[in-house]
Amino acid sequence: MAFVNKDNLTQLAKARWETSHSPRMREVMTKLVEHAHAFVRDVNPTEAEWLAACEFLARTGREFCDDRRNEFILLSDVLGISTLVVQLNDKKADGTTPNTVLGPFYQPGSPEMADGQNMAEGIEGETCYVHGNVTDLNGTPVPNARLDVWQADDEGMYEVQLPEITDPRLRAVFHTGSDGKYCVQTISPLGYTIPMDGTVGDLIRGTEISHFRPAHIHFIVEAPGYKRVVTHLFRKDAPYLDSDVVFGVKDDLIVPFNVHDGGESPTGDKVNGPFATVQFDIRLEAV
Ligand SMILES: [Fe+2]
Repeated sequence: MAFVNKDNLTQLAKARWETSHSPRMREVMTKLVEHAHAFVRDVNPTEAEWLAACEFLARTGREFCDDRRNEFILLSDVLGISTLVVQLNDKKADGTTPNTVLGPFYQPGSPEMADGQNMAEGIEGETCYVHGNVTDLNGTPVPNARLDVWQADDEGMYEVQLPEITDPRLRAVFHTGSDGKYCVQTISPLGYTIPMDGTVGDLIRGTEISHFRPAHIHFIVEAPGYKRVVTHLFRKDAPYLDSDVVFGVKDDLIVPFNVHDGGESPTGDKVNGPFATVQFDIRLEAV
């Protein structure tokens, strides 16, 4: 039997994980050993550095993860890994609305709202109507598509970051009509900083990385017979489009916000005072 030395250790560790019962687990664990060992051989951490890395991960879970916060998702986001996983899995045809990161602030179970209803009722901010067409790749309308929409408030905070909030806030589910059209009333999104009070913030402060995200609204769009789209719309004139800390921006997702001094909204209502309109069309690929 071969005992361990620096040269054979990687092969010995891989051989142990070759015994994994599931083929996929075998593939994942042997590759993890291979790449992690290569990383350690390359970086050559001291024992104190390795202990610090373990403590960093332990503290991330212990202090900054619960049922409302997952710092590991944020860590994956800022390392570009979340977007890499999205890119590798987004095999939809050209012309389809691209996927981008889900982000750490999604909450399932948002309330259903009627077309044009206000998901920002009582919340400060510039009134904004997001509307558009959900179609297939030929431009044929997709009726009864489900749009799960969520965003931050004008201080950059999501509902899950506000422990005093117990009711759904700035999130709702809408459906397209028989013509494939939808309309969401909300407030214009602003850019925001990722949470900087956790272990990810500690890392970012040791770099010149911008910790801001450009103004955006999140969407999950689903319709029977079509591939699911998990995406954002980004405000065209927003700062940080070229430095998004989670690498979420794509050309096709950048849309202009048109600001009006008042007048008729896309729902036909008379609006007193300024408001914005945004047309965000979504193209789905059939399964
Ligand atoms: Fe977001």
